[in-house]
Amino acid sequence: MTIAITGASGRLGRLVAELLLADPPGSPGSVGSRGSVGALGESRVPGAPGAPRASSAPRAADTPGAIEALDAARGAGAPGSGGALAEDVVLVTRRPAALADLAARGAIVRAGDFDDPAGLVAAFAGVDRLLLVSTDALDRRVVQHRQALEAAVRAGVGHVVYTSLSNPAPGNPVGEVTDAHRSTEEALVPLAPRWTILRNATYADALVPLWLAAAARGRLVTNQGDGRTAWVARDDCAAVAAAILADASGRHVGQTLDVTGPSLMGAADLGAALASGAGRHVVIEQVDDDAMAAHLVADGLPADRARLVAAWHRAIREGWFTQRTDVVEELTGRPARPVATLLTTG
Ligand SMILES: NC(=O)c1ccc[n+]([C@@H]2O[C@H](COP(=O)([O-])OP(=O)(O)OC[C@H]3O[C@@H](n4cnc5c(N)ncnc54)[C@H](OP(=O)(O)O)[C@@H]3O)[C@@H](O)[C@H]2O)c1
Repeated sequence: MTIAITGASGRLGRLVAELLLADPPGSPGSVGSRGSVGALGESRVPGAPGAPRASSAPRAADTPGAIEALDAARGAGAPGSGGALAEDVVLVTRRPAALADLAARGAIVRAGDFDDPAGLVAAFAGVDRLLLVSTDALDRRVVQHRQALEAAVRAGVGHVVYTSLSNPAPGNPVGEVTDAHRSTEEALVPLAPRWTILRNATYADALVPLWLAAAARGRLVTNQGDGRTAWVARDDCAAVAAAILADASGRHVGQTLDVTGPSLMGAADLGAALASGAGRHVVIEQVDDDAMAAHLVADGLPADRARLVAAWHRAIREGWFTQRTDVVEELTGRPARPVATLLTTG
């Protein structure tokens, strides 16, 4: 069984790769099929090819909770048991050199770019289950994702898991993001032999720097109004993806799962979490969308990103991102990380 991850040098892709390469306690660790070097431009570091993953292999310092969670999920009879440990893990990326450390741990690293469909077919050769990580190219990712899907089908991939976003319905104020996810979902379902859609909620990690700045100044400027959302930790999204990829049962085939944080939070809840972490009162200042974007620019964000973040908070205000589930806990065996924890641990 061969599992592949696209975008493997990105933050989410790397987290998933780390989880699949980590050796859970008590696992057989049989990796007898890891000895060969393929003819697809793939690489493993000399000395490492085929070697069983040592239980002393370094773990990602930034993913301790997620690794423990996957270990737990792989426990006897738990969701996700069956594991990827006896399987090949293929990491597809535009930047193979950035994954030399994971190649040294036994991963097969292959060059692959969604803008190069022919090369992608080769990169996906022999892959059974694929995590297709959405790209960050907002202007062309509908085409990119379509090309990646078609390449996966041509290569004979059996199960495609796609990282989408909450509520990619028409009219969402962040249509420049959600429309591409909706189009990809619509292409995925008829194309892929088997599929799973992971609708990740908004990454809390992306907002932590802004929140910490607000805590430091004692003032949270927002246009989210009375809207609430369940911000999620990126490593929880990674743990869910890894659990599905490692699960041989197929129980998640044909499912669309909302992957969210543990609770819906409004601006007041966020302000309270910030105040608690900073040890000072944090005033909530509600502004309109233009003022929010201007505030973010003043805080150092590029104008286009500031407009996107403001639109995202408008979507929260208008109730587009109110999904909340226990998917993280159900698939990993431990609760999703709350924002308050992320504020202190990053
Ligand atoms: N839910 C949310 O709140 C939220 C927030 C931000 C982003 N996202 C989405 O989640 C994805 C993963 O997040 P992240 O934090 O890991 O992003 P990231 O660290 O910025 O990584 C960007 C990703 O896009 C991939 N990529 C870009 N161009 C590509 C191409 N031509 N072909 C193949 N892959 C390409 C990169 O892969 P390589 O460099 O390895 O080729 C990398 O995995 C993002 O790309 C975005 O679609 C979601």
